[in-house]
Amino acid sequence: MRQTLAFFVVALSIGTAAHADAPLRGDPEAGRSLFRTECSACHSFDGKGFPGWKAAHPDRPLPDLSNTAFLVTRSDEELHAVMTTGMAQGERWIPGHAFASLGPLDRWNIVQWLRSRSLRVEDFFPSVAKFTAKEFQIDSPGSDRLEAMGIGPDEMRVVVLTAYRGSRKPNEPIRLVPWTPVELDLLKASDRLGHLTFMDIQAPRTGEVIHVGFAFDLDGKLAAVRVRHDDPARRSQYQAYEKALSAFVGQQVRTATQLSAPRGLSDGVQWAQVVSRAVSLSAEAILMFEKAERARTAFDL
Ligand code: HEC
Repeated sequence: MRQTLAFFVVALSIGTAAHADAPLRGDPEAGRSLFRTECSACHSFDGKGFPGWKAAHPDRPLPDLSNTAFLVTRSDEELHAVMTTGMAQGERWIPGHAFASLGPLDRWNIVQWLRSRSLRVEDFFPSVAKFTAKEFQIDSPGSDRLEAMGIGPDEMRVVVLTAYRGSRKPNEPIRLVPWTPVELDLLKASDRLGHLTFMDIQAPRTGEVIHVGFAFDLDGKLAAVRVRHDDPARRSQYQAYEKALSAFVGQQVRTATQLSAPRGLSDGVQWAQVVSRAVSLSAEAILMFEKAERARTAFDL
């Protein structure tokens, strides 16, 4: 019976992966409390990673489980498997990571909690069919420009997602295209929709740290901004943040740029400061994507 139930939940989860509101996908609230008891000793309550654990194990870097840029690179099945068998993506075995204390439903609850805390690529690019995700180290011209804005050397690594259009059947999940020469060759530059980055920023006035997705069109214009809704009860607060951030949409950011405060936005100068940092890091990382693409396709010209 237990096995049948597990299979049922797996099947449902695959079929409905694209719908955040689908029932029977695991309960995020239950997942949150399981995460606290089973996972937070290493990953911390919010999934960012417990500083003490990180300091004691520098050789075993923890992924940031709160970051959309990480979560979109793992399927539900992979997240489930890493708690079941201890096997991470790429057949990497994590010692002590198979949790006998968790039943199948417990694990789906945790997967659902992680998903409920993640933004989605299709929220920014509705016609996306596939995307790449790659962490770029910003090179010295870019890091010089960023350092002039007061951005530290430890922040110079940014994951850039690039969305591509294509045909996709209803319910078919969006595909992560692995960053390998063969797979990249199959993507068409003309299918490119834009780029996406995710950053934690500190909101002016409240001081709250919020998880934000920044979408850019191919001309480097900020096209959309969304804030992760962590707590359903605080929806109106998140919407207020989103409204403030959306006042910057349409501004062009090709390299590190100090944005001006949009007219009529309260705390506009402070918002301009935090948004400038985030979009400058994003723009410099997107420049690295473009450089990598030019180097890769140089022989085709
Ligand atoms: C004893 C410390 C520890 C505990 C407890 C722990 N983890 Fe991890 N976890 C790690 C380490 C270390 C890694 C990174 C391993 C690597 O990438 O080589 C990791 C990686 C992961 C990954 C990324 C796998 C991938 O594909 O790269 C996920 C997801 C994850 N853990 C989820 C969980 C969940 C959910 C729990 C609780 C059920 C949990 N972890 C409990 C130490 C822990």
